[in-house]
Parts: sequence; C-alpha cells; structure tokens
Amino acid sequence: MIDIQDLTFTYKDEPAPALSGISLTVTDGAFLGIIGPAGAGKTTLIRAVSGVIPHHYTGDYYGSVRVNGLDTVDTPLTDLSRLVGMVFQDVDSQIISSVVEDELLYGLENFGVPREEIPSRLEFALDRVGIADLRDRTIASLSGGQRQKVAIASVIALRPRVLVLDEPTGELDPRSSRQIFSLLKALNREYGITVVVVEQKIMLLCEFADMLAVLDQGKIVRQGKTREVLARSDELEALGVNCPRVTLLTRLLSERLGKSLPVSVSLDEAEKLVRGLMQ
Ligand SMILES: Nc1ncnc2c1ncn2[C@@H]1O[C@H](COP(=O)(O)OP(=O)(O)O)[C@@H](O)[C@H]1O
Ligand SMILES: [Mg+2]
Repeated sequence: MIDIQDLTFTYKDEPAPALSGISLTVTDGAFLGIIGPAGAGKTTLIRAVSGVIPHHYTGDYYGSVRVNGLDTVDTPLTDLSRLVGMVFQDVDSQIISSVVEDELLYGLENFGVPREEIPSRLEFALDRVGIADLRDRTIASLSGGQRQKVAIASVIALRPRVLVLDEPTGELDPRSSRQIFSLLKALNREYGITVVVVEQKIMLLCEFADMLAVLDQGKIVRQGKTREVLARSDELEALGVNCPRVTLLTRLLSERLGKSLPVSVSLDEAEKLVRGLMQ
C-alpha cells in the first residue's frame, strides 16, 4: 500500500510548494492514473512515491509517504528501488548502458537476481514489451519510442511490487501506447503489481485505470473511481483537463435527453449506451 499523509514539498530555492497538503492512499493491486495540467505537480508526486524526493531532490519536506509501511524518508533509495520500479518522464536520464540487453542485465545483476533466473526474466520483459528484436541493438541507434520501451522493460524485469511511470507513452504512437497499457494491466492483474501512472492520453488511461487522482497547482482536487471522477467532466474541463470524447458524449446525451445516463469510459461502453437508447 502507498500511504501519503499531508505531504507538502518545496524544491530548494523555489518560492512556492510544488505539492501542498497531499493525502492519498493507493491500495495493493490498484491501477491509479494521475492527471492534471502542466506544472500541476504530477512528476513531483511520482518522485515522492519512488523516494527520489527527498533522497535526490532536496527541499522543504513535510508530511509522510509510506510504501508497504516503509517511510521513504528513513529508507535508503536502494531498498526502496527494490519495492518501487520507476520509469522517468525523461527516459534518457535513466538508461545507463549502451546496448539494450546490457541495460536489462544491469538491473537484474544489481538486484542480486539468482543467475539461473536471469535469462527467463530478460526474455519475459523483452517479449512482453515487444522488443525482443532489439535485444542486441545499441541504445544510440534506437528511436525515442524504442528507448521508452527499453526503460519500461528494464523495470518490468525486476518485478517490483509497485510500478510508477511518468508519461510512459510520451514518445509512442497510439498502437504502441495501447500495447504498453495492456501490458501494465496484465501485470497488474496477473501479479497484483500496483500501478501508478501519469498519462496525458486520457482516453487510453481511463480505459485501464480503476482510480484517478486529479492534480492542480500542487493539490489533489479530485480522487476516486475513474467513472466517478469522469462523471464531473464539466469540472475537469474547467481545470484544463481534457476528458475522453466518449465521456463528453454521455454528458451531452444526458443534457439533451434530460436524464442522467451512466458515464461511458470506453468506446465499447458508449456504443452500447447509444444502441440501447435507439431501441
Ligand atoms: N527539479 C525541480 N526544481 C525546481 N522546481 C521544480 C523541479 N521540478 C519541478 N519543479 C516545479 O514544480 C512544479 C510542479 O512541476 P511538475 O511536478 O514537473 O509538474 P507536472 O509534472 O504536473 O507538469 C512546477 O512549478 C515546476 O516548475
Ligand atoms: Mg511531468
């Protein structure tokens, strides 16, 4: 479980807090999406969950973040990184090897994964992310999207209890983005891995996330089940958060028909809703 209590953080030398009074609980096995406008504090929140705040980024820190009962302030980053796998927004700052296979091996060896387990872990991660063919390529020869997949595969190979990803599909086309989200959901379901993901592709996110937290100006302005948060699409739009078009469609239909309809979060649901209305 991730338990954040009244977290306020101000980066060193900054006049205003990047996060103020954040309280958030993420239960084991949840799939949480974090949304909000640029500069809202999404990346800062993710950094606090993975422990790089306060271990790497210093500043004024109040409140607490606990992951599986460990307070991130008191727990060395090496211990936290076994528990929380993190994919940064800027994946290039995360990749340290020059060949794809070495990048995955680096993590596996550092984490002391038994030697006999390494080949299967390596193949599992490469296969599931869909980059088995890139295994021997140099990182420098890869596109931004391919590097993003390498960063994701390296973290998945380590099988952390919690996966934290900051805009993991930023460089990916729609097909690859969906593939990554399907993979995250499968890992979430099959192994009970808790997933926390910041994502701009809201339609995609809403289809996969069970819970949403909406950040604005360093505060959580809304949190809850995806469907409940989306039900207030008018409020989200006012914050500058784009809602999935299928959700807007539900709202327009509700207004037009003068009755409250269940919120659609995917195209399939919207189709069923519209078909039902036409019968
Ligand atoms: N390393 C940093 N040093 C100082 N200020 C930062 C740093 N990273 C982010 N900030 C500031 O913190 C606020 C929240 O930023 P961020 O968490 O990156 O938002 P988001 O990911 O939602 O765009 C912004 O005002 C940003 O300028
Ligand atoms: Mg960010």
